[in-house]
Amino acid sequence: MTAPYYEDFAPGAGALTPRAAFGSDADRLSLNGDWQFRLSPSVAAADAAEAAPNPSWDVLPVPAHWALHGHGSPQYTNIRYPFPVDAPRVPTDNPTGDYRLTFDLPVSWPEDGASLLRFEGVESCYRVRLNGHELGTAKGSRLPHEFDTGPHLLRHGNVLSVRVHQWSSGSYVEDQDMWWLAGIFRDVELVHRPMGAVRDFFVHAGFDHVTGEGTLRVDATPGGRITVPELGIDLATGQSATLPVEPWSAEVPRLYDAVLATDAERVPFRVGFRTVAVEDGVIKVNGNPILLRGVNRHEFHPDHGRALPYSTMREDVLLMKQHNINAVRASHYPPHPDFLDLCDEFGLWVIDEADLETHGFGGDDWRGNPADDPRWEEALVDRAARMVERDKNHPSVIMWSLGNESGTGRNLAAMSEWIRARDPRRLIHYEGDWSCAYVDVYSRMYASHEEVELIGRREEKPLDDPELDARRRAMPFIQCEYAHAMGNGPGGLTEYQRLFETYERLQGGFVWEWIDHGLRTQDAEGREFFAYGGDFGETLHDGNFCADGLLFPDRSPSPGLLEYKKVIEPVGIEVDTAAVTVRIANKYDVADLSQLAFTWSYAVEGRPVAEGALPVPPLRPGESAEIPLPAAPEASAEAWWTVRAVLAADTPWASAGHEVAWGQALAAVPARPQARASVSPVPGRSQITLGPATFDPVRGTLRTLHGFEVTAPRLDLWRATTDNDRGPDEAQSVATQWRRHALDRVQHRHDSLTVDETSVLVRTRVAPPAGFFGLYADYRWTSDGTRLTLTVDITPDGEWPCPLPRLGVRMGLPARLATVEWFGTGPGESYADTRRAARVGRYVATVDQLQTPYVFPQENGSRGDVRWADFRDAEGAGLRVEGDPVFALTARRWTTEQLESARHPTDLTPSDVLHVNLDLAQHGIGTASCGPGVLAPYQLRATPASFTVTFAGLSPAAGQH
Ligand code: GAL
Repeated sequence: MTAPYYEDFAPGAGALTPRAAFGSDADRLSLNGDWQFRLSPSVAAADAAEAAPNPSWDVLPVPAHWALHGHGSPQYTNIRYPFPVDAPRVPTDNPTGDYRLTFDLPVSWPEDGASLLRFEGVESCYRVRLNGHELGTAKGSRLPHEFDTGPHLLRHGNVLSVRVHQWSSGSYVEDQDMWWLAGIFRDVELVHRPMGAVRDFFVHAGFDHVTGEGTLRVDATPGGRITVPELGIDLATGQSATLPVEPWSAEVPRLYDAVLATDAERVPFRVGFRTVAVEDGVIKVNGNPILLRGVNRHEFHPDHGRALPYSTMREDVLLMKQHNINAVRASHYPPHPDFLDLCDEFGLWVIDEADLETHGFGGDDWRGNPADDPRWEEALVDRAARMVERDKNHPSVIMWSLGNESGTGRNLAAMSEWIRARDPRRLIHYEGDWSCAYVDVYSRMYASHEEVELIGRREEKPLDDPELDARRRAMPFIQCEYAHAMGNGPGGLTEYQRLFETYERLQGGFVWEWIDHGLRTQDAEGREFFAYGGDFGETLHDGNFCADGLLFPDRSPSPGLLEYKKVIEPVGIEVDTAAVTVRIANKYDVADLSQLAFTWSYAVEGRPVAEGALPVPPLRPGESAEIPLPAAPEASAEAWWTVRAVLAADTPWASAGHEVAWGQALAAVPARPQARASVSPVPGRSQITLGPATFDPVRGTLRTLHGFEVTAPRLDLWRATTDNDRGPDEAQSVATQWRRHALDRVQHRHDSLTVDETSVLVRTRVAPPAGFFGLYADYRWTSDGTRLTLTVDITPDGEWPCPLPRLGVRMGLPARLATVEWFGTGPGESYADTRRAARVGRYVATVDQLQTPYVFPQENGSRGDVRWADFRDAEGAGLRVEGDPVFALTARRWTTEQLESARHPTDLTPSDVLHVNLDLAQHGIGTASCGPGVLAPYQLRATPASFTVTFAGLSPAAGQH
């Protein structure tokens, strides 16, 4: 019995050989829109429904995924196949969508020539029939297929029927850590091919950086003429022209409009001249080494899944450019072709990746891996070919990637060989085979800082085969994935970037990943939230591991994106306060600084008191200069220099004034105020009074402060664990250690209360149940009569087996003190190893605005280095908390415990207490959800510590600062 087409090894049958994606003046008819649709639970049920006398139909838009339109539901898995692994067989219960569209040809549709049906993307396997005649079948969800309509196309009343199978043999090679979403999710078109039309063309446009000349040759079938009016080029296809041109790069994406003309057709296209090569062990484009500041981009929209509106693709590109990102890896499949046009136009280096991942086979030690089984060769090479043919004319594409996480194997070698023969002018990438036998670049994912440094020195651990080792050691290196942006984080970006900027061999990397795959959903009460794995009742799923992007699902930037923008900024700005100068360094690969304007400002306690333009010469890449700053104004309080680099003029991706880079330095530190006279506590039977505060007379816990009822501050060691704390491997994670040692359940033992002349002193020991270790914590309260000061002295006791989540106090304030103004870093959250984007200033936010809405609730919102914070009610009355010198602040309307047990932000309901944490420190963030944990300098260890905060009352009359 021969296998049905959805269960065989073949890539499909009947489609035309692949070719470049291009537009032309030939007729085209978009077949996007409402189609008739019927979902059946199996192929047999689909056949039965079709045979029924009056088959019933629903309506479904094309392009779309049916599960996002009420037919079936989405399922998310990372590595595991959602069906039994028995390739190439798939379950009998195989959701099957029958699509039908009736259409007429436009009156103007020519009589002569051919007409092709073009499908840009259908998941995962489909069969096309036109007016009852089968045109073919196809697999390769993110790849185009064209079918010749032959004699079957009618002027009126065409019935186009497409049967789509959710599961197919193709599913085994599309295991790409994303929602499984079937359907016709990219455009469908009817394309007219006049007699003598262009079948395919290949633009070769190199740039010689020594002569400054470009060479253009276009190979086309059939041949025609190429014109590039701006360059005065008019030549036959197959011939070449060499002449001075401006090269294309991601930083200066110079494109020339060109036309390929045959007797039958005019094909407009754009030429970007550039040459990619590995020279002296580094990747060079147009002779320049490049540093990839990249992201991995899955196509994702919270309502449409992978059926992206054009405006969303454009938004992605603009957001990348605006955040200093210069490269994108199309993980793990070729993106919609329009996206690559945008990359050409706005300037992004692209690794285009074949639609391939067989990760699930890793679960059985890669037994039966399609990447190594000759029966799959044709299908895999077809995937490589369809990508290369479609995208070969994009200057932005500098590397072809064979796929992702598909182990090793002969079919990968075959793909590489095919690509090399067809397009030797781009580099070949694949991460999964560390021998690098058939690639040009050594690529890894989530390698630790230590290992990356060794690789940077070309001192990595050798391969067993000395020849392969020598070959690999001579290769450039990239991290095709690093810094897993799941939840709060990633930490450790700065340290990676430092390595990338230090070692020539390290040419940057791609953060995992661009956007959280959270699907917009509503709970029973109609409140919106972003769903992740398991939210649709899937029995097999990988939870929120799909919410690991730099953008939230609605495309608002997460703190991680702002941090990344700062870490990779292309201009170094270092203010030297003593010398009153600023060092400006151009870290672009290609562009000079003439497109930027520089400004300085001088702010005292967060208020700018002077500012001006800073003349900076148009430094070339690699150059730097020391620029004098004006004399610093007198400052009575803490003062900071800020130097900013902004766009001098509008660009296609941001307006003039858009900030590209900045630097800050402390200019003046105020003299510390003298300790004021202290008042004595007044013990009483029902309370102790000390200045503006009252205390419980037995335990010495704070009760009221400036008339506000408060929950007394007490030592707090716990935080709502982050995705990075929990890690992928529960056994290894720091969160597991914390819980094993019961740090979420510490007990506070009251040892003594002493009221003396100047202070109320409470001694305690804070320790977990069953623990042989703990912390002595002494709370000493003093007052000058109007202000109240708390000093907490901490002395570890015993051997601490693990880092602390946090060290500080938590207290409760009335919830109406809901507006916070602070002088510290902001505006967003920051942690020990994610604090580059935080700048010193004065900020105002409501408590609600202080929360970062991670798709999966976890610790968030900490503002660092806070000198003081004012909590006010609507009338302006409230409390000030001052650090000595600083503290980290979180404030929320729910407890840490509630935050930790929430599964979605909608689980969090505000209470009438404002829970405030004043931290001396928190453990860093790291990126252990996939990759290295918190680096040593950012780990919080139990050591003797002391910290002081002072509380003062704020009255409405005092007004705002
Ligand atoms: C990588 C993989 C990505 C993603 C990431 C973790 O191993 O290539 O697709 O799964 O891990 O989010």
